[in-house]
Amino acid sequence: MSVNVPPNIHHVGEVTSTMDAARQMLTAANGAPFAVLAESQVKGRGTGERVWISPKGNMYFTLCISEKSIMPEIVPVLPLLTGLVCRAAIMSLINGANVHVKWPNDIIYAGKKIGGSLVESEGESLIIGIGMNVELAPPVTDSGRASTTVNEIAAALEQPKITPTQLAEFIWKHFFQMISDTTLTRKIVVTRFDAAMDKSLSLHRRTPTGRDPEELHAIGLNEWGHLIVSRPDGTEDTLMTDYLF
Ligand code: BTN
Repeated sequence: MSVNVPPNIHHVGEVTSTMDAARQMLTAANGAPFAVLAESQVKGRGTGERVWISPKGNMYFTLCISEKSIMPEIVPVLPLLTGLVCRAAIMSLINGANVHVKWPNDIIYAGKKIGGSLVESEGESLIIGIGMNVELAPPVTDSGRASTTVNEIAAALEQPKITPTQLAEFIWKHFFQMISDTTLTRKIVVTRFDAAMDKSLSLHRRTPTGRDPEELHAIGLNEWGHLIVSRPDGTEDTLMTDYLF
């Protein structure tokens, strides 16, 4: 399939957050898709208003696209689609890298976090932020999961280092390939994400003060992309809006 990939990735130095930088560029973009790739962020943010530590060396990337250019049934599963795109990017750039996803927005390798995404909106625009540890694994804070980097994976598999730009360009292109595919359905995204999840992970709900002690395990996704988990007593629960450690 030949896809018209917009060329406009803006490369910037240090910003507060690429989410803020992208918002400032929205008016000038006048509805056209664009992306911002920053060298570092001083106020990077993760899901649930958590800090995203953002030193030089990693990828800080925000894609902006009009909501109208995405099929309506795909919009609610955009975090899942973004995770699949990031996973595909790493697996294409590093032969043999067995990358997984963790619901709803994390990229995982060998049980460790490599990156995550954050979807926001502004008017009719979707603002999709992706942070990926390329060179540095920031310290794990507030009960978070241990992290690793794309280049640790490359080194372990004896392959050349990847740059944040290579990764961002691949993600940009593959994202457009996916959303331009008129045969893509929510069901396909959900099925692919389900197959790519690391179901061996111990999961804990995030609470305002830390993490809930109850240990959960992913069983699978329902048709809406909500996560079905098992509790220690064998009962099941369906998570719709939680973020998990
Ligand atoms: C998460 O909590 O896992 C999501 C992290 C998202 C971080 C990225 S880095 C680029 C963009 N700018 C931000 O301030 N946050 C997102």
